[in-house]
Amino acid sequence: MLFTKSQQEKIGTLETPFYYYDLALLDDTLKQAKAAADKRDFHVHYALKANFNDRVLETIQRRGLGADCVSGNEVQKAIDSGFSADKITFAGVGKSDKEIRTALAHGIFAFNVESIQEMEVIDALAAEAGVIANVSLRINPNVDAHTHHYITTGLDENKFGVPTSELEKAAAVIRQAAHVELMGLHFHVGSQITDMNVFKSLCVKVNEWKNWFEERGTTIRVLNVGGGLGVDYQHPDENPIPDFEAYFDIFDKFLERTSQQEVHFELGRALVAQCGSLLSKVLYTKSGIKKHFLVLDAGMTELMRPALYQAYHKMERVGDTSETLLNYDVVGPICESSDCFGKEVPLPVSKRGDLLAIRTAGAYGEVMASRYNLRDEIRYVYNDTL
Ligand code: LLP
Repeated sequence: MLFTKSQQEKIGTLETPFYYYDLALLDDTLKQAKAAADKRDFHVHYALKANFNDRVLETIQRRGLGADCVSGNEVQKAIDSGFSADKITFAGVGKSDKEIRTALAHGIFAFNVESIQEMEVIDALAAEAGVIANVSLRINPNVDAHTHHYITTGLDENKFGVPTSELEKAAAVIRQAAHVELMGLHFHVGSQITDMNVFKSLCVKVNEWKNWFEERGTTIRVLNVGGGLGVDYQHPDENPIPDFEAYFDIFDKFLERTSQQEVHFELGRALVAQCGSLLSKVLYTKSGIKKHFLVLDAGMTELMRPALYQAYHKMERVGDTSETLLNYDVVGPICESSDCFGKEVPLPVSKRGDLLAIRTAGAYGEVMASRYNLRDEIRYVYNDTL
C-alpha cells in the first residue's frame, strides 16, 4: 500500500489532482542504478525529458549522475539544478541555433549529433564562438526495440540519427570540420524496452559501427548507448526498482571496449517512473446501459500516456477498500473520448470523493501535462511533506 493512515488523512485534505513523489524510493532507485553502473565503470546521464520537477532533479544531481538534455532550456535547467557542464549531453533532431549557442556557452560534455547538416551548423557556430564542440555521432542502427511504435527510435523509418548509408559522408564532413571534435558514437533505439535481447542486438551494432570508424583511423573514446530500460507498470509494489544489474550486465558482456573507451547511458523512465503517482478524486459515478463509469478530476491533461499510447497504469483506491469489485471505465473530465485511463478496470465499488492513485506516473507524466481546457497548473506533493 502506498500511504500510512496519517498520510491518508493529510491527503484527504489536499486539493486534487496532484502528483505524489516518493523521493526516498527515487533515492533507493538511484543508489542501485549508480552502484551497478560504478561497478562496471559505466557513466549514467539522467534523461531530463522524463521528469524535470525541481526536487526530483535535486535528488538525482546529488547522487552524481550526469544529465541528458533535448533542448536548450533543458541544458539550462540542468546547469541551474547543479549538474556539472562536463556531464551534460545534448541530443535531439532539431536543435536550433539559439539552443546550440546556449550549449556551446556552457561547454557541455557532448552534442549528440543527428544529421550531417547539424554537424555543419555546430561547426560554424563553434567557430563563431571561438570554441571546439565535442560531438558524438548518433547512428540509426536499425534495431527493432519491440516497444510501442510511437516510442521506437532506431529503425530505418524513424527520424532519429544518421542512417548508416550516410556514414562515409558524415566521416568526411567531420574530418573537414575544424571546430568539431568527434569523441564518440551515440545510439538510442527506443523506450520502455523490457526484452533484454534488444540491448544485446544493440551491442552487436555498436561493436560493428565502432569497428567501422576505427578501421578508418578514427579514435572512438565514448560509446553512448542511450536509454530505454523499461519498468514494470503492472506490479509497482512488487517491482519498484528495475533490475539494473541485469541491464548493465548485458552491455558489460556484449559491448567490446578497450580500457580507454567510456560507456555512457541515458536513462530516464527506469530512474523516475515508479516514484511518482497521480492522485485524483472521483467526481462522479454513473452507470450506463453497458458500462459503469468513474469520472475523475484528473484527465489526459495531467497524464497523457493512456490517451496517447494506450499505456497501462495500475490504479488503486487509496484508503478503505471494500471487497466488492466492479469493472469501471475510468475517465477524465476532458472533452475527448480518448480521455480514459482504463476500460473495464476492476476497482472497489466507489463513490464521489473517493481517492485513486494512478501508479508509475513519475516518468513522462507531469512533463507531458498540458493546460488544454484551461486546466489548473499541475500540483505536486512529496513524501517528506506529507
Ligand atoms: N536518450 C534519448 C536520445 C531519448 O530519445 C530518450 C527518450 C532517452 C534517452 C530516455 O529514454 P528512457 O530511458 O526514458 O526510455 N513519452 C514516451 C517516452 C518517450 C521517450 C523519448 N526518448 C512515454 O511516455 O512512454
